[in-house]
Amino acid sequence: MFGNLSALPADPILGLLAKYRLDENPNKIDLGVGVYKNEYGDTTILDCVKKAEKYRYDNEESKVYIGPAGSPLFNEKMTDLIFAEHQVISENRVRTVSTPGGTGALRVAAEFIRACKPGATVWVSDPTWANHTGLFQASGLTVKTYPYYDYENKSLKFEEMKAALSQVAADDVVLLHACCHNPSGMDLDQQQWQEIVELAKNVGFTPLIDMAYQGFGDGLDEDAYGVRLMAANVEEMILCSSCSKNFGLYRERIGACSIIGKDIATTDVAYSVLLSVVRCIYSMPPAHGAALVETILSSGELTQQWHAELAEMRNRINDNRQLLVDNLKAQGVERDFSFITRQKGMFSFLGITPEQVQRLQEEFSIYMVGSSRMSIAGISRSNVEYLAQSIAKVL
Ligand code: LMR
Repeated sequence: MFGNLSALPADPILGLLAKYRLDENPNKIDLGVGVYKNEYGDTTILDCVKKAEKYRYDNEESKVYIGPAGSPLFNEKMTDLIFAEHQVISENRVRTVSTPGGTGALRVAAEFIRACKPGATVWVSDPTWANHTGLFQASGLTVKTYPYYDYENKSLKFEEMKAALSQVAADDVVLLHACCHNPSGMDLDQQQWQEIVELAKNVGFTPLIDMAYQGFGDGLDEDAYGVRLMAANVEEMILCSSCSKNFGLYRERIGACSIIGKDIATTDVAYSVLLSVVRCIYSMPPAHGAALVETILSSGELTQQWHAELAEMRNRINDNRQLLVDNLKAQGVERDFSFITRQKGMFSFLGITPEQVQRLQEEFSIYMVGSSRMSIAGISRSNVEYLAQSIAKVL
């Protein structure tokens, strides 16, 4: 049976990481996978997470099964973090399950959509996170794209985006990035969110919002603006979130999938289907990451510390944006890269050709995705000059 298979290429993001790890050049720079790194290039464990782990070690009493929804306390804390004091909570119209990471949340959402409508069409931004398309197709859904990033002008194709979304069918799903658009770093502003929410209301499509970077753009509440606005205005919506980046819990695989229904009765029916979807994929989510997040969010002191650590990560990434632009100028690069400072979150496209990306990798051991997506967190004061020099040489 295995003989029927053909080998597949390595994942465009994870394959790059494997290559980087094998590179022996001491000057190598990893701008590939979306992982936060500190000034020394290390992805350390947040202090608030360390404290929560100590607390769990001392207080956890059982490893017994927890059920397909995961920890109720985690689900409640995540719902509050995402929606704050929102009417969907007071109206009892939101249900959240913990999932194995943000990808697990998306796959649960995809299977849930398949249960609602087999073969449903999901519209994703052009471009979008490389894994979105494969993940939805693996659930038998049809994936189509709407215009989003203008590579030429380093801006949003907002008018084209609206025109495309006004044509989608009422029972289609539209995937939106809550903040820190991956891969472009180009986000909708508040006015644009209002217009997309109006469209969702008028056209009737179901919004599926992916929030993998809450807190990495402008702040926890600011980054949830579009999510909360959408939830206040549509009857049904799906929200996938991740604790990989903002809690630095990457390998613990913890995220959440929330569904909002139009009333309590339909939400309960939908929730029963969501639980059955989980049961058929992985039965129950891993517990450790959820336990850490709920411990942090249940403690005023740890929450405050988490806010400070998150702000430090966010600010460092923003500083790196400016640092790169300044260093490119200092290297005599005439092309205008100032758009990098106007974009948000972990990523931006450098806007160079695949051949130039290849040269950066082969000649300078600088790793970024073939589309020229850079993970800005991989820049530091010690490598930015070499990075800017190398970019200047391939331009
Ligand atoms: C990324 O886009 O680099 C991250 O979301 C990590 C991943 O799983 O691809």
